[in-house]
Amino acid sequence: MKFRKVGPLKGCITVPGDKSISHRAVMLGALAEGKTEISHFLQGADCLSTIRCFRQMGIDIVNDEEKESVIINGKGLYGLSKPAGLLDVGNSGTTIRLMSGILCGQSFETVISGDASIRKRPMSRIMTPLSMMGADIISVEGNGCAPLAINSGKGSFGRLKGIHYSSPVASAQVKSCILLAGLYADGETSVTEPALSRNHTELMLAQFGAEISSSGNTATIRPNPVLKGSKIEVPGDISSAAFFIAAGLLVPNSEILLKNVGINPTREGILTICRQMGADIRLENVRKGSGEPVADIIVRHSELKGTEIGGHIIPTLIDEIPIIAILASVAKGRTVIKDAAELKVKESNRIDVMADNLSRMGAEVTPTEDGLIINGGKPLHGATIDSKSDHRIAMSFAIASLLAEGETEIVDAECVKISYPNFYKDLKSLYAGS
Ligand code: S3P
Repeated sequence: MKFRKVGPLKGCITVPGDKSISHRAVMLGALAEGKTEISHFLQGADCLSTIRCFRQMGIDIVNDEEKESVIINGKGLYGLSKPAGLLDVGNSGTTIRLMSGILCGQSFETVISGDASIRKRPMSRIMTPLSMMGADIISVEGNGCAPLAINSGKGSFGRLKGIHYSSPVASAQVKSCILLAGLYADGETSVTEPALSRNHTELMLAQFGAEISSSGNTATIRPNPVLKGSKIEVPGDISSAAFFIAAGLLVPNSEILLKNVGINPTREGILTICRQMGADIRLENVRKGSGEPVADIIVRHSELKGTEIGGHIIPTLIDEIPIIAILASVAKGRTVIKDAAELKVKESNRIDVMADNLSRMGAEVTPTEDGLIINGGKPLHGATIDSKSDHRIAMSFAIASLLAEGETEIVDAECVKISYPNFYKDLKSLYAGS
């Protein structure tokens, strides 16, 4: 797909539902008793993978794609049935890691896998704590990656021990996997992280009636709750809004209103960093959605300056680092992003892929072991961008192309369907009149 410089960007966008929250709503809806109704459900390929997997395990799920609403007739904690074949999570790390925690508590065998990217991503980070709980989970090829076989041995299935796990990584997928396994344990399970990652699982489990508490970086769950079907209104995904926040800041004379965006404190690091860089961003209509804080965001073109990003803020903006790197390449001065080695094990190696593609556009960028150093302010020019089929890379460079001289071509631009199927249509709506 080809892109050219445009501007100014004006208008209002309602970004699609939050990916993390959409996944969790399907999973907890399936494990709850009775009906769960989800509105503004993200119709991205990843969340559709979660729906497909739970349907394969006998859960009745009605998805109205037009209305973005999903109804789940949950069967309770022990209501899943053995799927006929392999569970295929596609590109979705959240599906494979969270679902593995649930599957370890079942009394049937499953094999779970996904696409080429998923089969390269590290799964020992969940296999280690799940094995400590007594789970039977192995990497079929012995390489610490998917396919994963669960309950394939001769042990007593689904009998898990509660543990206190100190996670070496700040990862909501690891934390959530263990907490979900903890639903099936014989006692309390807790997870401590080095820095607090997104807490949607904790908030939603509480909403469904689980006994869960959080203190500092530790979350603790008691086993065997009766989860009750619930109504979930999914807020707009701040990780999707981030692309328009950046577009509004970078393209001269722009002003964009983003409606109904989730601003959970464990997710809104992008707002803090943008302000640190000198951004004109205002929040209006701040309110509580179903258990999650929400606001409308107004963003105006701003002159940005470089900054330092590292430490505890990293998990709160981990998925936004590609677009932050685009901001940094336009900002005046140096930006240092550190403590973000996790970027290497996302849908692509986002440190290398960002450094390579930004360099192709003329930016001065150096990849490091745990981040990027960017000397901003060099004019960007069009280039061929290899998205590596990573949705956030494709969207980041679609925004960079709006400022670049000449034409930019993004290879496999369609991969945005993972988290934002209408991304290009929404983006175009902002400059249609210009
Ligand atoms: C997610 C957690 C994060 C994030 C991913 C979604 C989640 O991954 O990058 O896009 O829904 O829990 P990690 O837990 O691996 O950091």
